[in-house]
This record gives sequence, structure tokens and C-alpha cells, in this order.
Amino acid sequence: MNKAYRHNSKVERVTRTRQEAKNHYDRLSGWYDLLTDRSERKSRDLGLKLLRLREGQKALVIGFGTGHGVLALAAVVGETGKVFGLDLSEGMLEVARERVLVAGLADRVELQCGDATALPFAAEFFDAIFMSFTLELFDTPEIPVVLRECRRVLKAGGRICIVAMSRQGKERLMVKLYEWAHRRMPSYVDCRPIYVREAIEQAGFQVVDVINNSIWGLPVEIVKAEKLGGKERETKVHLQ
Ligand SMILES: C[S@@+](CC[C@H](N)C(=O)[O-])C[C@H]1O[C@@H](n2cnc3c(N)ncnc32)[C@H](O)[C@@H]1O
Repeated sequence: MNKAYRHNSKVERVTRTRQEAKNHYDRLSGWYDLLTDRSERKSRDLGLKLLRLREGQKALVIGFGTGHGVLALAAVVGETGKVFGLDLSEGMLEVARERVLVAGLADRVELQCGDATALPFAAEFFDAIFMSFTLELFDTPEIPVVLRECRRVLKAGGRICIVAMSRQGKERLMVKLYEWAHRRMPSYVDCRPIYVREAIEQAGFQVVDVINNSIWGLPVEIVKAEKLGGKERETKVHLQ
């Protein structure tokens, strides 16, 4: 049995349907920041910084939620760049749109509802893709589908940064507890830790930077990778 197969067989499956996911995030949209922002912000901000987006570039945020990532990247791309966003939930779309409007950045942001397993964008369109606390919501066979779509819409040499709960390293009590809660309440605790770096590498990206972080003892991997075609670089790994 190869290592990737052995690892994937340890990752919990996601059994709720797309419609259930959509309903869940529609219901949560008004409360999401209150429930999660304090714990997730640090990891998300580390990922946004690691992406190193530049003025004039085009970026995609997948599963933008209440729009914090979209807003941060819109400030970086300036008037000549553009940030696109895709999310399954109409409730999240409303909250994020309002946030972008209030910040006066609507002219450089385009948000829409959709499913990340079929990205509604042309091939080689984006310079960069950002995804925080979203890849771990997809069932195990869907993760390579989402990442293949990311590769398709990225330009050669384009970058992807993914922030996600991780199963990497020795088995921790918090991972076991989270997985237990996911098995008991699959519609509420709808995500679970995954092998983030491994999934990105298997999708054919070159990993260039990894930050290992944690939230309440639960490991979080922040992984930046490039679509080959650009110059190959060595991977840097940091602890935060
Ligand atoms: C846990 S939230 C994270 C939100 C945001 N990225 C953040 O860091 O605050 C996951 C988001 O992914 C969206 N989502 C779930 N399934 C999706 C899918 N199949 N395609 C696109 N977005 C999806 C949800 O609606 C939700 O807004």
C-alpha cells in the first residue's frame, strides 16, 4: 500500500450532500464571524501574506465565506487588478458583498455562487488562488477534483495557497476528538483534518512554502504551491 493511499484511508469521509452544505452555510452566514473569526483569523492572515499577491494581478478566492480574504486581496491588487470569488452559499455571498461595498472596493471584486468542483472560469486565467478552511469540507474523492480545477484555471507559474485543518504529524488527541465529533454530527461538524501538503503535491503542484500552525491544539497546514511551468524552487517549512 503506498503512503498516499494509506493516509487517505485514515481521513474521515464527508457524507452530507451539497444541498445540506449550502443550507448549513446559508444558516451560519450571519453568525459565522462571531463563531470562528477569533480562532481562524491568524492562520488565514498567514496564508494571505504567504500568497504574495501583487498589484495588477488576478486572484480567485474559493469558499470566500464572509469575505475577509477577498477584502485583503482586493486591497493588494489595486485598481488595475481583480479579485474573483466563488462560494456555494447565497447567505455568504450577501454578507461578503456587503463587506466589499462598505470598504469601497466593489469595482475590483467579482463574487458569485458556484461549486468548486466545476470552476466557472477559463483555463489559465488567474495568477493566484486562495482557499482557507474550505478544502477540508470536500469528501476525499472530491479533493483531487477541486485541485485539478485549480490547476486548470491557474496560469503556468501561478500560485495557490491553502489553509486547512491538518492530520499531518503524530496523531493528536484534538484530531481524534474532532474526527469523533464529525462522525457523530456530520451535518454540523462538516469538515475534518486532511493531509493538505500531500493532496496538493498529488495534484501536480510544486509545494514551495509550508507553515505549520494550530488552533486549540488542532494542527493547521498553510501550504503555498506553484503550477509547474514557472521556475522550480526548494520547499521552505516553518513552525508558527
Ligand atoms: C468553513 S467556511 C470558510 C470561509 C472562509 N474561507 C474563511 O476562512 O473564513 C467554508 C466556506 O466554503 C463554502 N463552500 C462549501 N462547499 C463549497 C463548494 N462545494 N464550493 C464552493 N464553496 C463551498 C461555504 O459556503 C463556506 O462559505
